[in-house]
Amino acid sequence: MSSTPLNSEIVKQKIQENKIKNVGNASIREVKKLIDDIEKATGEKFVRMEMGVPGLPPTQIGIEAQKKALDKGVAAIYPDIFGIQPLKEEIARFVKNFIDLDVSVDGCLPTVGSMQGSFAVFMTLNRMHKEREGTLFLDPGFPVHKQQLRVMGQTWEAFDVYNYRGEKLRAKLESYLSTGRFCTLLYSNPNNPSWICFTDEELQIIGELATKYDVIVIEDLAYFAMDFRKDYSKPGVPPYQPTVAKYTENFVLLISSSKAFSYAGERIGMLVISDKIFHSTAPDLLRYYNTERVGAALIFGSIYSLSSGTSHSGQYALAAILKAANDGKLNFVEVVKEYGEKAKIMKKMFTDNGFKIVYDKDIDKPIADGFYFTFSYPGFTGAELLGELLYYGISAITLDITGSERTEGIRACVSLVPRAQFPLLEQRLKAFHKNHKS
Ligand SMILES: Cc1ncc(COP(=O)(O)O)c(C=O)c1O
Repeated sequence: MSSTPLNSEIVKQKIQENKIKNVGNASIREVKKLIDDIEKATGEKFVRMEMGVPGLPPTQIGIEAQKKALDKGVAAIYPDIFGIQPLKEEIARFVKNFIDLDVSVDGCLPTVGSMQGSFAVFMTLNRMHKEREGTLFLDPGFPVHKQQLRVMGQTWEAFDVYNYRGEKLRAKLESYLSTGRFCTLLYSNPNNPSWICFTDEELQIIGELATKYDVIVIEDLAYFAMDFRKDYSKPGVPPYQPTVAKYTENFVLLISSSKAFSYAGERIGMLVISDKIFHSTAPDLLRYYNTERVGAALIFGSIYSLSSGTSHSGQYALAAILKAANDGKLNFVEVVKEYGEKAKIMKKMFTDNGFKIVYDKDIDKPIADGFYFTFSYPGFTGAELLGELLYYGISAITLDITGSERTEGIRACVSLVPRAQFPLLEQRLKAFHKNHKS
């Protein structure tokens, strides 16, 4: 048997002890625990690419504003459920400056991370029509969104969008939306895990069909402005972060502060709902809420029941970060560009050693370098490859759990791999290739 960088007996033993039958089907958190155990037992550090967490320090402006707010005593006071006024105003300014979209302050809501935003939105909007079922996902996607629907007993359907790019998207999307089964449609852009970025042509198709079939688009902008091929960093200056909101009034934007501002730990995100949806009424909501007004049901029904608002000091932090970005004093995009630069180097290491990039094209252009990339190795399924890479001290997740049709694929997240580990990664990939090339 060929030798592997990590002691194969220990790796096998830890897989057994964690009672993981198939590493490929394990959840991200299960993979994390397994790797922690193997690291402890072997004394070897993994190249860790499984978790999508920020790898940069938090935005200092936020920390200072948050400390100041705590010193003033906000910890003792319940924040308004719909958010503190200065934050709401900065969110509306941010949306104008970086997306070129006019939204009213009422529709700008802080949430406990963008995850709570999606939960509250599913909870409310998927109940607007009693004869409809739930959400259509443009996959691949973030598995937790489906988990959110599962715990609420809501249904969904999904398709892998990779083979339906450009004008091809129209017929495919219409075949789903025309069934009348969906209240909402969700995708992330840039996409976790594939890093494809929808073009304006595609966003227009999505927007037009959402209007035609009265479906609300939930646009997840967790990786805001991170298509580094374009410079979206200047407030009030084109180009702007592309959005479906240019093409339909049926939209909700989820803007996370976790990656863009490295503020994941404080669990604060932004939910921006269009005026049209905010002010619309849906009598079927009365089954669950004491109002048929969508905006009121979202805020005083769903967000109130979930957490009664978002951390008071966290809101001051985010308000200060957004203000600095809006005033042109904080170039947050420049800071996170590091992810794209690392991805470029890491992808080359993989492809130099016999690996292939799975989602390699953005329509007709090479896929951009960003927070994630996807890879495969000839002759392996994603699950097999993930299992084998453990013996080489490399961890990631399979694309299976993301709704991808590409069962040979693995998702790698660049954020937790320090540049100092690049030589080790290269050495391990070389060892893998040496042992497996035909
Ligand atoms: C596509 C996507 N949406 C949402 C989130 C969660 O964002 P937040 O930390 O703001 O809850 C993530 C985090 O990894 C993500 O990748």
